[in-house]
Amino acid sequence: MTSETSEGLDLIKRLDRAEIPTHVAVIMDGNGRWATERGLPRFEGHRAGMKSVREVVEGAIEAGVGILTLFAFSQENWQRPAPEIAFLMELLKHYAKAELRDLVKNGVRVDVVGEIERLGRAERAAIDSIISATREGNKLQLILAISYSSRRELMQAAQRLAERVAAGELLPSEIDESAFQAELYTAPWPDPDLLIRTSGEYRISNFMLWQLAYTELYSTPVLWPDFRREHLFEAVLEYTKRERRFGRISAR
Ligand code: IPE
Ligand code: IPE
Ligand code: MG
Repeated sequence: MTSETSEGLDLIKRLDRAEIPTHVAVIMDGNGRWATERGLPRFEGHRAGMKSVREVVEGAIEAGVGILTLFAFSQENWQRPAPEIAFLMELLKHYAKAELRDLVKNGVRVDVVGEIERLGRAERAAIDSIISATREGNKLQLILAISYSSRRELMQAAQRLAERVAAGELLPSEIDESAFQAELYTAPWPDPDLLIRTSGEYRISNFMLWQLAYTELYSTPVLWPDFRREHLFEAVLEYTKRERRFGRISAR
C-alpha cells in the first residue's frame, strides 16, 4: 500500500481543513526496545528511527499539518551512556546533511528548541546550517526539540521576566499568560493540538508542560522505528473525533 492510496490519507483529504490539527508534537520513544527485541544494540533502534522521522515529515505535509514538533533528545537523556549519546549526536549531524535537500525540496522549515549550548561545536554548526538553509520553507514548520527540558524552559522564562522587572521594563502585575508565553522557546508557534507518544508509555517526560495544557493526548504501542505515515494518519483521524472543550460545556 503506497502512501497515496492509504485509506487514512483518503479520509483525511475528505475532512474540512479546520479539523486537521495545526500543530502535532511527537515523543519519539521505543528505539531501544525495538533493537533489544531484535537482539541488536540500542543504537540500531536509533538508526532505524530515522526512517520514521522521514515518514512523519512527509506524512505531515500530505495530511496538511502545519507544524510538527519532534522530541529528539531530552536534558535527562544526557545521563545515558556516553557511547549512546555520541551515536545520537552523529545521527543528528547525519540527518542535517542527508535530509537537507529533501527538506528544502519539500518546503520544510526547520527550527530547534532546547539548550543547544550543551551540544558540541560540530552539532551546533549542523543545526545552524539546517536552520539557515531551510529558512524559506513554507509548507511545514519542523521543530526539533534537542537537549530540551520543559522545566528548564519555564525556569529560564521566569528568570528573564524577573530580569526585565529588575531593569524597570516590566511591572510584576504585567506578567500575564501572554508575557510568559513570549519568553518560551516556542513563543513563535501555537501550542500543540495533538501529542503522540509511541511505545505505549503514558508520560509527558518533561515535554512542553506549559504548551500541552489543552493538547489532545494519543499514545500508541507502536515503537518509534516501526512508526509510519499511516500511524500518523490514524492519530490525526482519532484527533478529529475528539471533542475539545477547553473547560466549557461544549466545543462551540
Ligand atoms: C527514544 O527511544 C529515543 C530517545 C530518547 C533519544 P529510547 O532510546 O528512549 O528507547 P526505549 O524507550 O529505551 O525503548
Ligand atoms: C522521552 O523519552 C525523550 C525523547 C523521546 C527524546 P525517554 O525514553 O527519555 O523518556 P522516559 O525516560 O521513558 O520517561
Ligand atoms: Mg525511552
